[in-house]
Amino acid sequence: MAHDHRHHDGPGHGPGHGHGPGHGAGPGHGAGDRHGHDHTDVDWAEMAPLLEAQAELYTPLYRQAMAWLAQEAADPGLIVDAGSGPGVVSCLFADAFPGARVVAADGAAPLLERAAARAARLGFTDRFGTLAGDLPDALGELDYPADLLWASQSLHHLADQRAALAAFGSHLAPGGTLAVLEGGLPARFLPRDIGIGRPGLQDRIRAVEADVFSGMRADLPGTVAETEDWPAMLTAAGLRHTGTRSFLLDLPAPLSDAARDYVTTTLSRLREQLGESLDADDRATLDRLLDPGDEVGVHRRRDLFLLVAHTVYTAVRPG
Ligand SMILES: C[S@@+](CC[C@H](N)C(=O)[O-])C[C@H]1O[C@@H](n2cnc3c(N)ncnc32)[C@H](O)[C@@H]1O
Repeated sequence: MAHDHRHHDGPGHGPGHGHGPGHGAGPGHGAGDRHGHDHTDVDWAEMAPLLEAQAELYTPLYRQAMAWLAQEAADPGLIVDAGSGPGVVSCLFADAFPGARVVAADGAAPLLERAAARAARLGFTDRFGTLAGDLPDALGELDYPADLLWASQSLHHLADQRAALAAFGSHLAPGGTLAVLEGGLPARFLPRDIGIGRPGLQDRIRAVEADVFSGMRADLPGTVAETEDWPAMLTAAGLRHTGTRSFLLDLPAPLSDAARDYVTTTLSRLREQLGESLDADDRATLDRLLDPGDEVGVHRRRDLFLLVAHTVYTAVRPG
């Protein structure tokens, strides 16, 4: 039986690629107090509220993904959420698969404390565990193999993704499923032309984020460059690729207060962390967007929306 291990106050690893917290130099490229042997600037614990807000907002998308996964992994005994963060999605797994034990594994122990607290609040404690440590090695602490291993936007923080996939596969029971969420389409919040500044602001921000993501990967000690052909990588890991599907979160304007807060926080992190890579006009536009007193700002404008697609790749360990 998997159980709690909190022996390692682990790391976070750099920004990602424009999907939200930990992705893009926006949310997730924060500085500050590090945990464990962090190789970049992300303080995952400091990001907990934003990670939670994002995952809560994205819940409809995750629920669709879980319904799809249930067709392949009908009745999993053990589900492992590898790189769980604060455990919002881990708890959704506990809810969607009432017969399963769920283990949230992550390098950031403070996030796992929040995961455990959330599981307790939701009444899942008796079948919820946490595992703190560096991935993929921390999975060696599992007491038995997983029937479903979910890795959402965590794999790209690991230096050797190919080796990590093989390691994830080795912790699956025969016939078990590995589900990797990577890629898709980055979140859009604003129309192309927002009536101020040069049209296409979000596209230019995305271009900077793509470079930051590449820099994050390049800076990971022992990094291995890979063509991000996930089905081929899963096959090379000895697994049988079974499916690829993208899930949409489509929150049209006008946004709820929670969604507006999330977009505002995300844009202000982008301004803080990427602003210097944008030209002066775009910086000025972002400043107007973030000014609560400006009627064209994101606090007030009615055309703000949230549209994002996440892609999930599944593969099965041959029996
Ligand atoms: C972008 S967050 C994703 C969180 C969650 N899976 C989601 O989709 O919202 C990446 C997570 O991976 C964890 N992480 C990054 N590198 C890690 C490593 N080498 N070992 C363990 N966890 C790691 C971070 O602590 C963080 O919680």
